[in-house]
Amino acid sequence: MISVAIMGHGVVGSGVAEILTTHKQKLFASIGEEIYVKHILDLREFPDSPLADRFTKDFNDILNDREVRVVVEVMGGLNPAYDFVKKCLKSGKSVVTSNKELVAAHGAELLQIAKDENVNFLFEASVGGGIPIIRPISQCLVANIVDEIAGILNGTTNFILTKMIEDGMQFDAALKLAQDLGFAERNPAADIEGHDACRKICILASLAFGKHVYPNFVHTEGITEITLEDVKYAEAYNCVIKLIGRVKRLDDGKIDIIVAPMFVPNKSQLANIDYEFNGIMVRGDCTGDVVFYGKGAGKLPTASAVVADVVDCCKHLKTRKFLFWADGNGDNILPYEESV
Ligand code: HSE
Repeated sequence: MISVAIMGHGVVGSGVAEILTTHKQKLFASIGEEIYVKHILDLREFPDSPLADRFTKDFNDILNDREVRVVVEVMGGLNPAYDFVKKCLKSGKSVVTSNKELVAAHGAELLQIAKDENVNFLFEASVGGGIPIIRPISQCLVANIVDEIAGILNGTTNFILTKMIEDGMQFDAALKLAQDLGFAERNPAADIEGHDACRKICILASLAFGKHVYPNFVHTEGITEITLEDVKYAEAYNCVIKLIGRVKRLDDGKIDIIVAPMFVPNKSQLANIDYEFNGIMVRGDCTGDVVFYGKGAGKLPTASAVVADVVDCCKHLKTRKFLFWADGNGDNILPYEESV
């Protein structure tokens, strides 16, 4: 039996607890051992849950429990997630997270700690929700030199833009609907101002190009200024407006990276990715274009990616999955003024 702990019991955390319970047999068959949810950390009122006896408000219950080998961080935000994750890794526990803010801000450092401690730090769910993208880039496409990654990386904004395009819905009403459906971040400003998409393209760029790309070096525009008039204007040019995160390799070794609403021609594959769906195109020098598509947000899709990482950690308790990038200081990024 392998004991795990879950930090956070919101949309994704409750999905993780649910899958670990409902898919117990399937996961047992994959690992050869049972995964036991020993602690669930949540600072709010404890919910009515079949796992009610496992809830705690004290992080030390997890940190000091030597039986806990894998910790799932699905609290979101940097504080206290950064501190908790660092402490767990340093105490020899593997960590799985869906927290793109954390990975985009501290990925290089946390990967280095995981390497030093010979444990795993995995974050498949941090980009693309239920779509496999971290493993494909870091493993399946590893033989390629990646020339470009471009994608619709935020389900909330894609949902809003789709509602504006297809139903002529006003921005505010569409945002409210996305929030009610559980796609949006706790603070939806991160979605609509492009920061969530920026964190995700930074994670993919760091993986593909080997050097940490920090969000503050990336020119980021959201969709708050987009009107129904803009939508119609795009239509006249046989295009749709999509919030695109894009990174390209340049000849001098630098990269050009941007997040902005763009006119996407109707014939492009990305044009037909609607609602909360995400789509990511990776252009490898050997493979050509490979496109990943699926639900980029929501409880069970995201939890599915988290649980896959938990399974991987359980299978590699004594070895490391190779996932790594070096720290960077922005010198690999072409300044925005030069890139337009
Ligand atoms: N708020 C995010 C989105 C959730 O809308 O895509 C998944 O990262």
